[in-house]
Amino acid sequence: MRLLRALLCLWLLAEAVLASRVRTRRELGPGLYEHGVYDAGGSYCQRGDVCCHGRNDGCTVPYHDTLCYCDLFCNRTVSDCCPDFWEYCLGIPAPFPKASGCARAGRNYPTGATYRENCNLCTCGPGGQWQCEDRACLMDGELIDAINRGNYGWRAANYSQFWGMTLEDGIRYRLGTFRPSPTVMNMNEMHMNMDSNEVLPRHFDAAAKWPGMIHEPLDQGNCAGSWAFSTAAVASDRISIHSMGHMKPALSPQNLLSCDTRNQRGCSGGRLDGAWWYLRRRGVVTDECYPFTSQESQPAAQPCMMHSRSTGRGKRQATARCPNPQTHANEIYQSTPAYRLSSSEKEIMKELLENGPVQAILEVHEDFFMYKSGIYRHTPVAEGKGPKHQRHGTHSVKITGWGEEQLPDGQTQKYWTAANSWGTAWGEGGHFRIARGVNECEVETFVVGVWGRVSTEDMPHK
Ligand SMILES: *[C@@H]1O[C@H](CO)[C@@H](O)[C@H](O)[C@H]1NC(C)=O
Ligand SMILES: *[C@@H]1O[C@H](CO)[C@@H](O)[C@H](O)[C@H]1NC(C)=O
Repeated sequence: MRLLRALLCLWLLAEAVLASRVRTRRELGPGLYEHGVYDAGGSYCQRGDVCCHGRNDGCTVPYHDTLCYCDLFCNRTVSDCCPDFWEYCLGIPAPFPKASGCARAGRNYPTGATYRENCNLCTCGPGGQWQCEDRACLMDGELIDAINRGNYGWRAANYSQFWGMTLEDGIRYRLGTFRPSPTVMNMNEMHMNMDSNEVLPRHFDAAAKWPGMIHEPLDQGNCAGSWAFSTAAVASDRISIHSMGHMKPALSPQNLLSCDTRNQRGCSGGRLDGAWWYLRRRGVVTDECYPFTSQESQPAAQPCMMHSRSTGRGKRQATARCPNPQTHANEIYQSTPAYRLSSSEKEIMKELLENGPVQAILEVHEDFFMYKSGIYRHTPVAEGKGPKHQRHGTHSVKITGWGEEQLPDGQTQKYWTAANSWGTAWGEGGHFRIARGVNECEVETFVVGVWGRVSTEDMPHK
């Protein structure tokens, strides 16, 4: 009997402890609103369609990483009611101002919440208003519409790979050619032997004249290394053409980015004369052997993994295996000294026609990133948006041909065709056309040609 009573006592005690612990946990738990009402306008009791009478500790709804209550007991403590309890369950205004939090797409977000609007970050301010940064974005819907409405002769598009970037980052990471120094700019121009009334074809496409020898555009990603990409692209085509297709190397921009480091800055920009010096004196391997791996996050930091030494017969050989372990062919390809052409449209055309694609610098403006098709000319669409929307930087590309188009008003629009290094999804399959003969965006200012270093042993044997 005594034992039984003792057991009963123990049981009652345990009950009491348990009950008090449950009550303690809810009653003394930290208030849900300690740091201000989180999500004051959110829907909780309403979304779960729950309102409970008296005390019901199971009357809860998920609330961020905890629970909130929709029973009358919560109203007693005012520590754990869902924010919409008063309004939804009692039909009275909540005992705190409802203004905090910002609305967006039918949802309410707490003060301090953020979202991205293209390249700008928006933050929910204390006044319940979204506050957005006001930076110029690389892709701009207003500019795209203005270009496409404006009859400029080319179409603009929204590129997902550029969406979310600022214009400043586009200029910083997608170009990457230093303007040639005055000394280089004053380099003697090579003049073509031309008869002033020599007739050149109205259309020319290097890929049609030299099938299989003109290489497809690559993608420099967020690496400001167009100096290496355009040099490798022109050298690849020229070596293929001058060896009459016996060698068709797609040369490695990465080899230049990582190894041509004298006065060069890898993925932070470089000089064309330096790149050609390297191709002549050191040479590079193929892109397959030394694939592109650089990223903006590690500019110029990649160590050089390919060196060459002279074989004594005017040629060089690699002193390392290919960085790509699947490839064994590590031949070194070299060029002769590069030569600068005059800015004369006809002379550039004749060089292209006879010797193959040429390299050109290009001053890239904000609207060029959105180019999709047609004959590009820099437009004034960004002028109304203020100076921070009008930016430009120096780039370099490979000119591969020319043509002309009849405009509806009967005028003839002449153009160059050029390969960019923003992948084949950009522009016309990675290429673009640009007005010819008017030095549009300085495309005719600094044009360079080169010969592949091709010896008789590299030539096809008959
Ligand atoms: C709930 O709280 C509100 C505001 O604090 C108060 O006016 C109301 O009387 C309370 N209701 C109950 C049932 O306790
Ligand atoms: C552009 O494309 C991105 C993603 O591809 C998309 O989220 C965005 O809404 C588009 N913007 C415009 C203005 O079309």
